[in-house]
Parts: sequence; structure tokens; C-alpha cells
Amino acid sequence: MKHFIKDTDFALNEIPEIFALARNMKEQRGRHVPLALEGRTWALIFSKSSTRTRVSFEVGIRELGGYPIFLNQNDIQLGRGESIADTARVLSRYVHGLIVRTFEHSDLEELARSGSVPVVNALTDFLHPCQTYADAFTLAERWAGRNGDYLASLKGRKIAFLGDCACNVANSWILTANLFGMKICLSGPKSYTPGEEIQALSSREGHDVPFEFFEDPMEAVKGADAVYTDVWVSMGKEDEMHERIAELMPYAVTLDLFNAAKKDALFMHCLPAYVNKEVTQEVLDSPRSIIFDQAENRLHVQKAILSMLGRPAKQS
Ligand code: CP
Ligand code: NVA
Repeated sequence: MKHFIKDTDFALNEIPEIFALARNMKEQRGRHVPLALEGRTWALIFSKSSTRTRVSFEVGIRELGGYPIFLNQNDIQLGRGESIADTARVLSRYVHGLIVRTFEHSDLEELARSGSVPVVNALTDFLHPCQTYADAFTLAERWAGRNGDYLASLKGRKIAFLGDCACNVANSWILTANLFGMKICLSGPKSYTPGEEIQALSSREGHDVPFEFFEDPMEAVKGADAVYTDVWVSMGKEDEMHERIAELMPYAVTLDLFNAAKKDALFMHCLPAYVNKEVTQEVLDSPRSIIFDQAENRLHVQKAILSMLGRPAKQS
């Protein structure tokens, strides 16, 4: 059973197909295209808030001919202590796939192990792979040109990630950058260095030095093709809000810092953004800010991913 739980669940040789499907979905939106999820029902189980992920998946499933069912964790028995394994086994009898946003990454892995339908990671504390695939697609759109090779356009490019370098989006960027042949430099206070878990996972996948880390943000953005930041207080970290803001303030993406990257560098943010915390309004509004293209492309790229996962298994 194919799942999309971590960025490297697709092999590099599957990426051109995902990008081609996403381009086609984008260009053909609203016109007739083969409906990959016709008659299929996918459940979204969310334990955290969401605007982009929830709406783009619900719209995407409908546009592929399927039916989404949104389940807040507290509306189902899981929220009252029913086991993850039983929930996965029961839901697998009803629906054709599960899209899950939760805290513990291991809960998502258990759900995938216990059920018998594809599981998609809609964000855990550890990873957010749908985000970084859409981000990479968004960069490729800019860099490859209309008929160019999307994957080739990403190779060797440098992304500078500033702020909380131990968060889910930073971790996913480490995996995605390594898979796609990009360079990822992160910058934040030492205590926000990417954790042992992501280093161990990268190393198991053959990347012993999967990223560069700088305490000085100016060093990290030097020569960068894109500057990326994420919210400093991720969902579940609200208790640490005050100390996080104080510690991360030197890593705010200001115009000065952004201008220290390549002169045509792009600004990226997974959103939601907090103005005058991780980024200033003038950077968000810059003509080189591609934040809303990133948000839009969640829809197209996730439709491509669902089309790949929703295919009936090949007969041997
Ligand atoms: N970027 C992202 O995943 O946004 P939501 O939390 O709104 O889904
Ligand atoms: N790191 C953020 C991403 C939000 C899309 C969080 O987990 O809240």
C-alpha cells in the first residue's frame, strides 16, 4: 500500500509524473479531465486547525470526482480514547483513503500500518510533505518556464530557511531538498537546529550531511535562490510563545535580510504569516513574494498526489 507520510515516500523518478499531473490539473481546471477519484470517498481526520490544507484537499477531492468527509478528531471516538489501530481498521472498511493532520508523527505511521487504505500526511509535528512538494512545484513554475523541465530547474538551487529550523516545514524541506537535488541552508538560534530524528532519517536515506546550519542569518541567505520562513509558534507550542518570539527575533525576514540573498531571490512562506514576527509586511508584499502561488499550488499538487495514490493497484 502506497502512502505519503514523508517527503521521500515518492522516489525521484516519480516526481516528473507528479509535476506533469499537477501542471495538467492546473491548466485543465474546470474542463473535463479523467476523474481519478470517481466514486471514491476520502476522510480527512484533523486534530489541529487548518485553512489551506483542509480546503485544498476538500476541493481537490471533489474536483477529482470523489467525496471528502471531514472529521475533527473530537467528533469521532478517537478523541475519547478509541485506539488508532481500531480507528484505522474501521475507517478502511468505509473509505478509500485517509488524510490526517495530527501531533505525533508515530500516530500517523501507526494509522498507516493498521489500516488498508492510503494515508496522506496533512501535517504532523515532524513533517509537512504536501507543503514542500507544492513549494518545490511553485519554484519550478518560475524557474523552468512554460515548457521547461521542472525537476531539472530545481537541481542545485539554494533555499535559505530562517527561524524555527526544528519545525515540521523545515524538516520536510530538508527531505525534499535532498530528494530533488537542492541545497538547504537553515539559520536560527542553536537551540532551534534541526533535531536528531530528521538527521537520522536523512542519514538512513543516504544523506549524511543533509543541510548546512548557520547562526548568522546573513551567512545563510548569501547566494540563496529563495528565502523561506514559517511561523515561530507552531501549533502545539503556544505555551512557549513569549520565549520563542524573543529568541527568534534576530531571524525575522526583513527587507535588508531578503536583499542579502540573490537579487532575483523569491520569498516563500507556508502561511499563516504573522506580520512583524517572522516577516515584515514589505517582504510579504514584495513582487518577489510567491506566497499565494504556494497556497494555490497546494490544490494542484495534492490532486496529483491523490491521483497517484488513488489508482487501483497494478495486477501482477
Ligand atoms: N500551510 C498550511 O498548511 O496551512 P493551514 O494550516 O492553513 O492548512
Ligand atoms: N509549523 C507550522 C506550520 C503551519 C502550516 C505549524 O505546525 O503550526
